[in-house]
This record gives sequence, C-alpha cells and structure tokens, in this order.
Amino acid sequence: MEYNSCDKEFKNIVNNIMENEDFKEIVNCRHHGITRLEHSLRVAYYSYKVSKLLHLNVRETARAGLLHDFFVNSDLSEKSQKVSAFTHPKKALEKASDRFILSDMEKDIIYSHMFPLIPTRPPKYLESWVVSLVDKVVATYEFASSYSKIFISKSSYAAILFIILAKRGL
Ligand SMILES: [Fe+2]
Ligand SMILES: [Fe+2]
Repeated sequence: MEYNSCDKEFKNIVNNIMENEDFKEIVNCRHHGITRLEHSLRVAYYSYKVSKLLHLNVRETARAGLLHDFFVNSDLSEKSQKVSAFTHPKKALEKASDRFILSDMEKDIIYSHMFPLIPTRPPKYLESWVVSLVDKVVATYEFASSYSKIFISKSSYAAILFIILAKRGL
C-alpha cells in the first residue's frame, strides 16, 4: 500500500516516524514477500481505521501499529526466521523505545502483538487486540498474494511451454 493513499489525519500522526532515518531502514527487509515498511504501514493504517470505528485511541494505535515490527534482521536462514517469530516483539519494543517516546499503551501494542503465538504476553488494551488481529489478517493476505503470484508465474511458464511444445507437434 502507498503512504500517499492514507488519509491526512493518519499521516499527521505517523509523519515523524515515517521521516525517521532508522525507521526507514525497514524498507530493506523482506517481510511476507514484500518490504517490512509496506507491511507495517498496512497494519498501522487498517488498525487506525478499526480503532476509529470503535472510538478507540487512534493516535496510539497508528503509531504503535507502525512500530510493531521495527527491527532489522541480517540472518535470513529458516532457523533464524523461526526464532525471530518469538523474539522480534521485544526487539521492536527496545528499538522503538530507543528512538521514540512511547506511552504504556504503545509499548503494550508492540510487545503483545504476537499473542497467542507468545501466550505469556496477552494484550492489555483493546487497541493492542486491534493491532494483533489486524496484523494476522494482513499477514495472511500478504502471504496469500505473494504465493498466488508465484503460482501464477509458474502456471504462465507452464502454459508458454505447453504452447511451444504443441506448436512443434510434440
Ligand atoms: Fe510481528
Ligand atoms: Fe507484523
């Protein structure tokens, strides 16, 4: 999703995070087949929209939604990625707390977003539940679209090969 397509209120809330040089580094990280920045922006924007509908704290939802996966990982091995599923909320919280002043609610949103995969950290606030649920829906959508792209491109190659072979009468 494009930052430009987000509404003005959302942009005003998250602008200082989007402009932060350290935060911008997550654009270089792959995440669910896209960039981590794109994933984080999607989670933040849809969580903000849901919070608005439910009359919750939109500011803290949007900011913490954007920061929920604020970490950079250099080791992309399968083992490291599996470990990261359990360790990254703490890493993201440490990095976000180091760069920005966070409220207790924002800290909880980041720290608890992997519940129930990390069952010892249930969300304390409704806003934390919103980000955790939106993150799962968005991740499922991103996985599905990235795998469907791979499937479609493989199917296209198979179709082209089939046409070539058919034309040769094989
Ligand atoms: Fe995450
Ligand atoms: Fe996420």
